[in-house]
Amino acid sequence: MEEGASRIRRRVCVRKRTRPGLASACTAPAEAEEEDAGAGGRRRKTAQPAEHYDSEEDMFGDYDSFSENSILAQVEDLEQKYMQLPERGEHATDFATEDLCKESIKNKLSVTHVSDLTDRETDEQTENQPGCEGVAAEPGDDPLYDVPSSQVLYFENLQNPSCDLHHQSAQERDQGPSCHKTGSEELQHKRNDELSPKIQTSSDTNRRKSIKEYLKSAMTGNAKAQTPVFSRNKQLKEALLCEELTVAKRTIESSSDDLGPFYSLPSKVRDLYVQFKGIENLYEWQHTCLTLSCVQERKNLIYSLPTNGGKTLVAEILMLQELLCRRKDVLMILPYVALVQEKISGLSSFGLELGFFVEEYAGSKGRFPPTKRREKKSLYIATIEKAHSLVNSLIETGRISSLGLVVVDELHMIGEGSRGAVLEMTLSKVLYTSKATQIIGMSATLNNVKDLQEFLQAEYYSSQFRPVELKEYLKINDTIYEVDNRAESNMTFSRLLHYKYSDSLKKMDPDHLVALVTEVIPSYSCLVFCPSKKNCENVAEMLCKFLNKEYLKHREKEKCELIKHLRSSSGGHLCPVLRRTVPFGVAYHHSGLTSEERKLLEEAYSAGVLCLLACTSTLAAGVNLPARRVILRAPYVAKEFLKRSQYRQMIGRAGRAGIDSVGESILILQEQDKHKVLELISRPPENCYSHLVQQFTKGIHTLFLSLIGLKIAANLGDIYNFMNGTFFGVQQKILLKEKSLWEITVESLRYLTEKGLLQRNPISESAEELQCNFHITKLGQASFKGAIDLAYCDTLYRDLKKGLEGLVLENLLHLIYLTTPYNLVSQCDPDWMIYFRQISQLSPAEQNVATLLGVSESYIAKKASGQATRKKVDKDIVNRLYLSLVLYALLKETSVWSVSEKFNLPRGSIQNLLAGAASFSSCVLHFCEELEEFWVYRALLAELTKKLTYCVKAELIPLMEVSGVLEGRAKQLYSAGYRSLMHLASADPEVLIRTIDHLSRRQARQIVSSAKMLLQEKAEALREEVEELLRVPADVPSVVASPAQRPEAT
Ligand SMILES: Nc1ncnc2c1ncn2[C@@H]1O[C@H](COP(=O)(O)OP(=O)(O)OP(=O)(O)O)[C@@H](O)[C@H]1O
Ligand SMILES: [Mg+2]
Repeated sequence: MEEGASRIRRRVCVRKRTRPGLASACTAPAEAEEEDAGAGGRRRKTAQPAEHYDSEEDMFGDYDSFSENSILAQVEDLEQKYMQLPERGEHATDFATEDLCKESIKNKLSVTHVSDLTDRETDEQTENQPGCEGVAAEPGDDPLYDVPSSQVLYFENLQNPSCDLHHQSAQERDQGPSCHKTGSEELQHKRNDELSPKIQTSSDTNRRKSIKEYLKSAMTGNAKAQTPVFSRNKQLKEALLCEELTVAKRTIESSSDDLGPFYSLPSKVRDLYVQFKGIENLYEWQHTCLTLSCVQERKNLIYSLPTNGGKTLVAEILMLQELLCRRKDVLMILPYVALVQEKISGLSSFGLELGFFVEEYAGSKGRFPPTKRREKKSLYIATIEKAHSLVNSLIETGRISSLGLVVVDELHMIGEGSRGAVLEMTLSKVLYTSKATQIIGMSATLNNVKDLQEFLQAEYYSSQFRPVELKEYLKINDTIYEVDNRAESNMTFSRLLHYKYSDSLKKMDPDHLVALVTEVIPSYSCLVFCPSKKNCENVAEMLCKFLNKEYLKHREKEKCELIKHLRSSSGGHLCPVLRRTVPFGVAYHHSGLTSEERKLLEEAYSAGVLCLLACTSTLAAGVNLPARRVILRAPYVAKEFLKRSQYRQMIGRAGRAGIDSVGESILILQEQDKHKVLELISRPPENCYSHLVQQFTKGIHTLFLSLIGLKIAANLGDIYNFMNGTFFGVQQKILLKEKSLWEITVESLRYLTEKGLLQRNPISESAEELQCNFHITKLGQASFKGAIDLAYCDTLYRDLKKGLEGLVLENLLHLIYLTTPYNLVSQCDPDWMIYFRQISQLSPAEQNVATLLGVSESYIAKKASGQATRKKVDKDIVNRLYLSLVLYALLKETSVWSVSEKFNLPRGSIQNLLAGAASFSSCVLHFCEELEEFWVYRALLAELTKKLTYCVKAELIPLMEVSGVLEGRAKQLYSAGYRSLMHLASADPEVLIRTIDHLSRRQARQIVSSAKMLLQEKAEALREEVEELLRVPADVPSVVASPAQRPEAT
């Protein structure tokens, strides 16, 4: 309540200021706050001429008809004084009284003004104490503007001789309390209680015909002389009073209406950033960017800053503005599932506090179309692929305009392979179908920004800001050079590496890694980027062999805990390499680890328990794990020479904001690579180019199919127009050498028609190719809805059709085979001995599946024994069955570790296979939903998708639905008694910390917030469903009853 009252005061006070534009007012954060505090009044700004602002303030001034200091109360006082005066002549009395009145009113008015200017800071009690008044009256201010409208009415009545004083008084009485009740009920109740005797006296006295009438007429004279503005503005003022009260009421009832103090957002947002992220102030560039006029005007924007520059915060504030102020949904696109999950965990608490939904669209999570929310808005956080499906579903259901903002993190990914093509399709569709949707893209490595700007019709902002200075070094032999663009050779000598190496160490560590890392660890953190996964493990082990035993003592207890936790979350398994390296504070990190292991290691590294990670380049683009020193083991990723963007991403991890004073990167290179490296460090980042046309079945063909399927385009001309607006359209002159865009469009449409995915409309068969309209066939629709790569849609159709002839349902193997992703098959290289062992152990029913697919045991036996096989066998089917066997074992045993051992595959790859299968299974389900002949698969695939998605005991599924709760954690929670989503949503984080091992306070809070958010989403979806069910359709047939049938006629 007190908060509400002070909020009203804040609004009122700020309204008194002159209002410069937001940009100019935000030159300093402190000023920005005050300016924005007045945003509540922005609404009014359009409704009211500026000159009336000041007079609005009286609505919430401290004086009113109830107050001790009300005009009537003063009249009462005056009457008392008058009665006490010695007898005087009529004239003298008149003047004396008039003077007194004048004085009194002036005092009163000054007091009001003071309260306006000063009470914003005072608390409620202080505010109401008479002693506080007049403390800081501003002599220069015109008091007349501060007369409350309730008092204006009084003056009006005085001026009007026909006005009945009794009526006026009653009206005043009525108006005062009722208005304030709506405004600040509690506050007024308090005042009423305290002041009621006085009010009573005051109003009673007023009713009497007394000397007061006389006084009033004198006051009227004064009032008239000084305040002509009253009568002129009376109606306006009354209207304003009501409006102001309504605003105040809303302010008190809903804190989310407090839009303003923090970049048009509730002040609570700023508090949440301090509370959850420890961010107290924005960086200067962040403030500049947020107050750019193009941002205010909601133009599309691309911004680019070095890594760690704090780009995310700007995007988040813009997203919150969209959700809370403009009340539109927002889509945030991130490149990796892990990043989506990290964001979901981070923003769920904001959603809960500020009243919006945070919805996960990654892996197999996400609804298409998204649930229509009744009141709260949604923030969809999605991977590139899921974002595309989400946008498609919104276009299809005519809801794309509900999307107010699309934010793309790592925008440069638009130039990377098929994922880039999907991102381009998504953005092109948004641009084409919803002009009002704002698009914001950010990146650390952009070069040909002009092309991207043209594509997105966007403004560009960039800065070189880095919160921590980055020093770039190169190491050749035992010499370290500093990268220096001013030097002719781009580098200058820095120092020689002094480290006494034994002969064995020299042999094992020719690159002086031990010397380099021991300069920083264990006090500071270090990342060592290695070219391959195997190399990461080798480096970690090698370093630990030569590290001093003292390293074992550093945070020993926590490292022991980490090992225990690694073991318990993996069902008792522990990677032998980690077992040896973690005690030294060292670990390796690559995709071969399970997601549980990766998460634990990342957390331990962030907390400083681990001081060194030997990792692959994927860490550079993944979750934010900065280091004091970043070492690049070699200028290669696998066998490819480093790209400039990769290099910048990796070295960008150096320097932790708020922790390190400086960050360093050291690239180790051999003499022979020196020339290439010098070019690498001096070159600008690579240009990014559209991959839409290069990726035929995953790019342009899929795009055309969806354009027709979504009715965005109907014919060649429409499609050509659309293509001109794509990123590819912008770059066609550079990218197209042999064919024109027109030719490519024509050819692609022909391909889709020949493939049976599109058809020309019969009516236009004779028409020219340009004019004829197309429609999507059933197969086309199924492929589009299932997001099936068009390279495989025929095969999938054939496989499913064949399955109908004899689907083995005695076990899951056959169904799993049908949902094993085709794209992984080509990368599969079976271990024939393992294959043979597995296939020979199958039950007859399981072997029946292999036989039906045409894979015989004898063929596998021959392969295992290295014999030549004459029989012609489809290699793709054989390999696909091998992957199916892995998945089948996983579903039977649910332990990634034992399956990893059985198939001699890295546990991380097995998890990836599982995730791919879960996702493909849901695609196949959508495919079948569009084709009537496959109805039988629907129920089967729905169940299988669930099994593959969680691949754990059924009881853990509800817990694992919560973002970031993986199997190990779910097991812990389950055995601690948290068995459902409701349990988690109602859990007390403090109790969780005490009952669940290895759970930090931050994690506990995130789990509870994410669970609450998910529960709210589910409840809201159900409510929506109920409403939908009960809604009477607009087109219910009704029969007009004949007069004879009407009840009154019978
Ligand atoms: N104003 C600020 N004050 C203090 N810390 C901040 C501020 N803004 C951002 N940070 C912190 O800086 C770190 C880096 O921010 P962020 O992840 O947004 O960087 P980025 O520009 O997106 O970098 P990258 O290109 O590597 O993704 C985060 O830990 C973030 O919390
Ligand atoms: Mg970022």
